Amino acid sequence: MYYIGVDLGTSAVKLLLMEESGKICNIVSKEYPLFFPHPGWSEQNPEDWFAQSMEGIKELTEGIDKSQVAGIGFGGQMHGLVTLDQDDNVIRPAILWNDGRTGEETDYLNNVIGKDKLSQYTANIAFAGFTAPKILWMQKHEPENFKKVVKIMLPKDYLAYRLSGSFCTDVSDASGMLLLDVKNRCWSKKMLEICGISEEQLPKVYESWEVVGTLKSEIAEELGFSKDVKVVAGAGDNAAAAVGTGTVGDGQCNISLGTSGTIFISSHEFGVDENNALHSFDHADGYYHLMGCMLSAASCNKWWAEDILDTKDFAKEQEPIQKLGENHVFYLPYLMGERSPHNNPDARAVFFGMSMDTTRADMTQAVLEGVAFGLRDSLEVARSLGIKIERTKICGGGAKSPLWKKIIANVMNLKVDVLENEEGPAMGGAMLAAVGCGAYPDVETIGKKLANVVDTVEPDPELVAKYEEKYQQFRKLYPTMKPLF
Ligand code: XUL
Repeated sequence: MYYIGVDLGTSAVKLLLMEESGKICNIVSKEYPLFFPHPGWSEQNPEDWFAQSMEGIKELTEGIDKSQVAGIGFGGQMHGLVTLDQDDNVIRPAILWNDGRTGEETDYLNNVIGKDKLSQYTANIAFAGFTAPKILWMQKHEPENFKKVVKIMLPKDYLAYRLSGSFCTDVSDASGMLLLDVKNRCWSKKMLEICGISEEQLPKVYESWEVVGTLKSEIAEELGFSKDVKVVAGAGDNAAAAVGTGTVGDGQCNISLGTSGTIFISSHEFGVDENNALHSFDHADGYYHLMGCMLSAASCNKWWAEDILDTKDFAKEQEPIQKLGENHVFYLPYLMGERSPHNNPDARAVFFGMSMDTTRADMTQAVLEGVAFGLRDSLEVARSLGIKIERTKICGGGAKSPLWKKIIANVMNLKVDVLENEEGPAMGGAMLAAVGCGAYPDVETIGKKLANVVDTVEPDPELVAKYEEKYQQFRKLYPTMKPLF
């Protein structure tokens, strides 16, 4: 049988066709536009997601025996606010995870309602990208729109709704709304009250591998599939990536170098970082995880190469970079503000320390290093909680660069396990579908079985020491710059 994984990303939807054995048969990617209507705002049209996913699924399954498609599962960009009216029309463009418009609402939640209460109700505090502050923003700034809201959902849940008619979400993605009682895996009545919404407006919460329905008959017909194809709840893209990279069970770590950069630590136990710098969310394997998220990771390199240097040849741009640990240039990666650990939507990117002998390659290197230092900031929070991490998996577009993996291994002093494929969330979505369809008993089993490590990048003690010094310099820059942002 075949399983389809749909990774609803920020720049594109990636679709992956997997056999029961874990063999990847095909991968297709379809782009859609991202809109920045004001500095720091970030929006997309849900209709684009659906149209491109449908096109992608058709291309993905061209020429195969379509009667063998058993299930579809998702990994989706998290925290986005999608609102539907009583006729299921999208009310306004989706407000995305890296949108920073809700500074005021975030302050209200953290300082008037209070971080202690939020943490008690949801295991988290408010960050500008989370869904709850966006709901408050819409209530205040678009009251006419807000009155029309009948359904509130996350980006991947919009796809599940269009494909199956099931108004559903999963625990891992719902964790990022600041509406879920993460410990007990259900909506927090207190949070719904604070946000002025009712449980009827929210989807039913499932575990990530659970079947939420089957394809609508008109969709099955358009795709040429049986209408018995099962639609599985899926997960937020980071939890789905963790499944895809085998970061399941207790004490495993995964780094995702996508548009965002995340460090994800799986745990059998529920736990909260007392300063709430790391998110405490449900995992797609039935347990929990801690996560640090930086808003601009591979997107910093993409912006620097494509928009500033006017090249798409990232590998060539990185070729002249030879000397690691000795760069005088620093880069603060805050193009869209920053989430973990600074929680500051007003932060902005900075190059620091150039001199007349600074080269283009030094600046490219500074961008790669700045992202690694930003991830290290979150790793330090995890270390301060007594969590011992010695190795990590890695996935996402940035993980294709051998140089970037080497920089990460040495800046973070971690062994970096490289997988046979970097398709974290799409693979994870397909794996969740395989569990939902009964091909595997549970998520931990499939995660451990199908994620194959093919190489390990070992940190080099000399380089680790050099980078330690650089990191200590880097971490002084944000507090110095903060009053200017
Ligand atoms: C996680 C986060 C991002 C998005 C990217 O908290 O905001 O990783 O999920 O798609």
